[in-house]
Parts: sequence; C-alpha cells; structure tokens
Amino acid sequence: MPKPRKIRQRAANRRGERVKILISGGRIQRRIQALAKQIRRDFPDEPLHLVSVLKGGVFFLTDLARSIAGEVSFDFIAVSSYGKATRSSGQVRLTRDLDSSIEGKTVILVEDILDTGMTLQYLLKLFQQRKPKHLRVAVLLDKPERRIAPVRADYLGFSIPNEFVVGYGLDYAERYRNLPYVGVLSLDSKVAKKAAEK
Ligand code: PRP
Repeated sequence: MPKPRKIRQRAANRRGERVKILISGGRIQRRIQALAKQIRRDFPDEPLHLVSVLKGGVFFLTDLARSIAGEVSFDFIAVSSYGKATRSSGQVRLTRDLDSSIEGKTVILVEDILDTGMTLQYLLKLFQQRKPKHLRVAVLLDKPERRIAPVRADYLGFSIPNEFVVGYGLDYAERYRNLPYVGVLSLDSKVAKKAAEK
C-alpha cells in the first residue's frame, strides 16, 4: 500500500506564506466538548439560541451546536468595521441582522476570536436592547493583549499570544478558513512581494 504523503505544514506555499500549527484540530474539538458541557450545566433545562458572527464564527458554532445536548437553535449576524484599522475607533456597523427575535431567549453569542473587543462590545449593546432572557458569550480564541473595549467571554476556548492566526474560520485574504486547526501565519516577504507583482 502506498504510504500517506507527509504533510509539511511549515513549507511556504507559492505566495510565500507559511502556517505553523498553534492549536491542533484535536485540541480544538476536545475543548469544544468541554465548553458544550459547561454551557449545558449552566442552563440545564433551557432551549439555547446560538448566534454566530459571520463569517469566522461559523465553524465554532456548528461544532459547538453539535456538542450541546438538548434543544438548540441558531441564527447569524454580520458586521462590518470599515476595515481592521478603523475598528479601534469603534466604527462597527450591522450589515446583516438576525432572522428572528431574541426576546425572552437564552442567547449564546458565538465568536471565533476576541481581539480589540469592539465588535463584541457593539453586539452586546445591540442584543441587550432586544431583551433576551440570558445573554452569554462563547469565544474560541482570546488575544487579551489587544483588548481596547472592556469585554470578556463567559466561555473561552484558548488564550493566545498576539500573533496573526488563521484556520478554523479565521482567514488571511479570505483563505485558510477551512483549516481544521489554528495556525500562525508568517509571510516570506520576498516571495510575497513577487506574487503581488504578478
Ligand atoms: C473577526 C472575528 C470577530 C472580530 C473580532 O472578524 O470574527 O468578529 O474580528 O475583532 P475585534 O475584537 O477587534 O472587534 P473579521 O472582521 O475578521 O471578519 P470575518 O469573521 O468575516 O473574517
């Protein structure tokens, strides 16, 4: 039988980008199982309504939803921040609203990453105005060093250093979201420059 090909995670691709695994797919899945149990323990008899922020949070939402026992529904919301550079100024705006009302529901806001916290701050304020029964936040990755807004996750997967991470929903120019793990992206500046010139 042919031997499986060795995957060289650190090899740079033709764009001069390398991804080094930070959190393996197995660790992510195990952590999600534990978070799902913790959420269900906190709300043993409640139907839970998960809300994910497009697009990055979708992978975390689907895995979390499948791991939580009992009644679960979900919905999606999208925001734009006029680019990352302006997010720190708090300029977050809604680009896609929820399909259904959250009034009286136990809502878990599901995010892939907590960075400056501006997105979460905006969404928490918006959701509170809509009178949910309970509102909690589940975040897979937290970069505490980057925080500007005073927000925190009720359920946290991993605290990570301030590195550029991709995978498991997180992108670089819309690529890498489909990786089953979270990795640190590095750019080979010479190759990246050449690729940009083509
Ligand atoms: C990411 C992430 C959060 C936000 C967190 O979304 O999914 O929504 O950034 O950053 P903050 O704490 O600084 O506000 P992004 O804008 O990259 O969009 P995407 O999910 O579509 O990739």
